[in-house]
Amino acid sequence: MKTTISNISKILLMGIATTFGWAGCQSGPKTGFTLEHQGDTLTLVHITEPARYLLLPVEERSAEGQVCLVTGDPADTDMDIRLAKEKTDYFVPFELPAGTGEATVRIRKTPQNALCWKEMKLSDTFDTANRDKFRPVYHHTPLYGWMNDANGLVYKDGEYHLYFQYNPYGSVWGNMHWGHSVSRDLVHWEPLPVALARDTMGHIFSGSSVVDAANSAGYGAGSIVSFYTSASDKNGQIQCMAHSNDNGRTFTKYEKNPVLTPFDGLKDFRDPKVFWYAPEEKWVMIVSADKEMRFYSSDNLKDWTYMSAFGEGYGVQPSQFECPDMVELPVNGDENNKKWALIVNINPGCLFGGSATQYFTGNFDGTRFTCDTKPETVKWLDWGKDHYATVCFSNTPGRVIAMPWMSNWQYANIIPTQQFRSANALPRELTMYSEGKDIYLAANPVKELETLRRETKEMPPFTVEAGKDVTIDTLFAGNDGAFEIEISLSAARTEVAGLRLMNGQGEEVAIYLDKKAGKLVMDRVHSGIVDFGKNSIPHEKEAHDNRIANSINYVDDFALATWGPLSGAADHTLRIFADKCSVKLFLDGGKVAMTNLVFPNEPYNRLQFYSQGGSYRVNSLNLYKLGL
Ligand code: FRU
Repeated sequence: MKTTISNISKILLMGIATTFGWAGCQSGPKTGFTLEHQGDTLTLVHITEPARYLLLPVEERSAEGQVCLVTGDPADTDMDIRLAKEKTDYFVPFELPAGTGEATVRIRKTPQNALCWKEMKLSDTFDTANRDKFRPVYHHTPLYGWMNDANGLVYKDGEYHLYFQYNPYGSVWGNMHWGHSVSRDLVHWEPLPVALARDTMGHIFSGSSVVDAANSAGYGAGSIVSFYTSASDKNGQIQCMAHSNDNGRTFTKYEKNPVLTPFDGLKDFRDPKVFWYAPEEKWVMIVSADKEMRFYSSDNLKDWTYMSAFGEGYGVQPSQFECPDMVELPVNGDENNKKWALIVNINPGCLFGGSATQYFTGNFDGTRFTCDTKPETVKWLDWGKDHYATVCFSNTPGRVIAMPWMSNWQYANIIPTQQFRSANALPRELTMYSEGKDIYLAANPVKELETLRRETKEMPPFTVEAGKDVTIDTLFAGNDGAFEIEISLSAARTEVAGLRLMNGQGEEVAIYLDKKAGKLVMDRVHSGIVDFGKNSIPHEKEAHDNRIANSINYVDDFALATWGPLSGAADHTLRIFADKCSVKLFLDGGKVAMTNLVFPNEPYNRLQFYSQGGSYRVNSLNLYKLGL
């Protein structure tokens, strides 16, 4: 049996078994550790009995305290943890050194009367069994804690490595590490220990990995070499390198980091994407540099030379460029006609607010990217609101597989989950096609996802007349919210061809082809919980771009419909994927992809077809219950 996140959780369902208690200045048993309060803002936790973790109580609305394991090593690093002042939302494990049981944890900026001193406890185990109703069935999530961008995506020796922006000390943004999961089929993900931890140089921001087949960097042919941005107030944003000789399990940071700093002191200079440019046998690095992308080259992965920049004034204006990628693909499958697509994630700039992924098509001559279209042309990789920081796996010859983060910076920190926050969207294969004089990317769920199909219902064709809805009352018995719908339809004689995913609580997602407006629409206004930000209080000080504070414009940001372009053709195909907290559409072979979060109070289990201003024909309808 394959190891999956869900059965790993079961294996880890050990409970918080061994608790040694609390002590110090507070009342309670004096076993395991003592507290030494030095004034109101500095406390030393003296651990006197061996335990694997100090379990720290977190209250998400608290300000950050600084927690550090004191070993005397200059590498000792403070982690920002929102220790509970008044109530404990959940615990996070703070790992202690194995061995004698002697350790000191220094905690700053957490007042003496805070609740956390009473609640913290020693334990040899940490319970990662799922507690979140909205945890997806078949989308990747971290076992606990916060996740944003996919990082360092690389395929090697039969394994897909998914590293990701990770906070192991709370389910809101902070303490950027690279978390790590691995998969053999892009469907079942096995959680692995953190690959790169925040250090004294800074947070470990986003980046990429390559397999160094030719041993350019000197760590051995076939080593994985990863690039990330080290980000701190002290050093700014600088590009660093690390390598792994054990198939991506553990990394050694380069002792001479950074490998690249901005020549003009730019503040926003991050997310290095490295790839091999075969025609000139050299490495290329793309770095997002405020409102453009900068290109560098290298022979040894360590010394980088500036080549060019692209993007100033291109696409949605103004917007912050983040997380670049660039891929070369055959147009319409023609290997003799290849084009490059430069993927540029922007925040803000999404058509519907917040973050989104745009791309530019054109040529790359080894030095410079030139765009085929005018600067004002905008092409979207996805037309939903929850598709961001999308980058591709390296080392997947013959295939380009992209992995989005399924959220939006407007509200990512306050979505109604708690044990974890954020999932990845489905991995998708990118292809290129031409339409008229222009070239576009199509995005389709990877074919491996078909292995999720557990039960199939093939429905006979039918016609949907205006005013006469066709309803399938029960999609599946025991439907836990994970299903796929495949439809082909002819809609020449209607104005609106629509369907609704509904549950028993009057919540629904409406998906419709608006023929007049030329739009495919997904409406989540009545999808379930849409006002989750209502009670959120912005924190006074935020570590990164005031992102949590910016999340408070919640209702308009979340309760809305998104749309993508619909061609004038009569016939269309639609694939719909639903999971606990998301609905994704793929129209006409992935020409339009649309990814949106939803939080229904119970799974959608009814399907209703409706038509306005005419009738349409459903030529085929396949329903699949999905499961891991
Ligand atoms: C994109 C991003 C990146 C940065 C990372 C920090 O979502 O802002 O530019 O490296 O998140 O977590």
